[in-house]
Amino acid sequence: MRLADGTLWPIPITLDVPVELAGKLGPGASLALRDPEGVMLAALHVEEVWQPDRTAEAQAVFGTTSREHPGVAHLLDRAHPWYVGGRLEGIQLPVHYDFRALRLAPAELRAEFQRMGWRRVVAFQTRNPMHRAHQELTLRAAREAEASLLIHPSVGMTKPGDVDHYTRVRCYQALLPTYPRNTATLALLPLAMRMGGPREALWHAIIRKNYGCSHLIVGRDHAGPGSDSTGKPFYGPYDAQQLLATHQAELGVTMVPFQMMVYVEERDQYMPQDEVPQGTRTLDISGTELRRRLATGREIPSWFTFPEVAAELRRRHPPRDRQGFTVFFTGLSGSGKSTIANALVVKLLEMGGRPVTLLDGDLVRKHLSSELGFSKEHRDINIRRIGFVASEITMNGGIAVCAPIAPYDKVRKEVRAMVEPLGGFMLVYVAAPLEVCEQRDRKGLYAKARAGLIKEFTGVSDPYEAPEDADLVVDTTDVSPEEAAQQIILHLEREGYVGAA
Ligand code: PPS
Repeated sequence: MRLADGTLWPIPITLDVPVELAGKLGPGASLALRDPEGVMLAALHVEEVWQPDRTAEAQAVFGTTSREHPGVAHLLDRAHPWYVGGRLEGIQLPVHYDFRALRLAPAELRAEFQRMGWRRVVAFQTRNPMHRAHQELTLRAAREAEASLLIHPSVGMTKPGDVDHYTRVRCYQALLPTYPRNTATLALLPLAMRMGGPREALWHAIIRKNYGCSHLIVGRDHAGPGSDSTGKPFYGPYDAQQLLATHQAELGVTMVPFQMMVYVEERDQYMPQDEVPQGTRTLDISGTELRRRLATGREIPSWFTFPEVAAELRRRHPPRDRQGFTVFFTGLSGSGKSTIANALVVKLLEMGGRPVTLLDGDLVRKHLSSELGFSKEHRDINIRRIGFVASEITMNGGIAVCAPIAPYDKVRKEVRAMVEPLGGFMLVYVAAPLEVCEQRDRKGLYAKARAGLIKEFTGVSDPYEAPEDADLVVDTTDVSPEEAAQQIILHLEREGYVGAA
């Protein structure tokens, strides 16, 4: 909780390095710290290299060693096992190309406050879009503290699954005009959150002090990651407020604590939960419910959020029938994948609305993977390439129809994991028996494989792992390509990815 000299400091910021690098470093060495593009931001003049007890660190900082806590998972599984410490010599600030006018460094923001005559400033930390509850909370907080308001969202790494910061910043910008003139401003905080609850709240207060704020709003479960898989919350709802209460005098930042705000229908107003009279009807929309409403294109009521904010969220999270998706076929050579894929593409083009890209096995082999053969390693590379292209198409709202053999389960699952967070994913197993495929032998490849002229031929001299996680199985011995394509369309309709014109 404190540095060696006694300064309050609740979360260590460490430089973790791989063991090979640690072995080459010692006191007196210098380390260049670069951004991902290689631009040098700082030099670390090494004084110490050591192997930390990361379990102890997790317990002390996060109060848990459970990997279900995202901060713990990062610390234990993604950070390197050695730490390097020493004097840091800054060279230049990291370059950001987005929202430059809003990226004020601490000294700049302090100067800005002085220029505007803001002596008392209350900061609002957030990693989520702000709705009416947050707007009313911040207004109340500013009034209570008799302070101006700084909306100061973290735009570094936040909790996995959060709304991306581009969308969030547009939401905050849309919200700003709802505050009384000259009483509220917006600036971005390039902070990677740890979701450390109470300690993170204290950390946020220190950071905001540096940015020139006199007050910090601390609400319910500040910077908490929610609950674990058994439903047990990692932190008590007001633990963060308690910890900050014990340190605020020493820190010189005053906490403005808040209970959860709830909507009181009969007053058309938000109120802190503890002020709501017994028996009064209150309304709320959870994060999950909001995502459901966005995905299905349902109404987002104006008591919940401002229409301008809802419009930004809708732009970023269109309903499923306007999101991208991937239909991924797998099956033996000659099973009918390409024929069905072609029929499907034509149906999708007829329906219109989204661009459709066909990534057929042969086509990919010609244009993307011409140097690859048919070993397991090469097939996996081939499928990962297809998955990457499909994920990009899906992310940008298009339809990708992929039709490789894709004989291996593991890499198919990788592709699903790559695409699913970005839109729809449907695995179609074209399950024609080997005998049927071989009988058809459209390209004469089975004959060649049997004769030993083609090696590693799927089904003959190479394995095919039939999927157990297919969203649809079609057996082309008794279903025509047209019927199979229609089955796929119906599945997509059921899942919401195709809707009424
Ligand atoms: S994989 O396993 O997904 O990477 O295969 P894919 O890229 O779909 O390529 C399969 C097409 O390449 C032809 N071909 C072979 N297939 C399987 N095994 C071997 N050894 C082989 N050699 C060439 C074949 O025409 C496949 O096309 P389809 O359309 O599946 O018949």
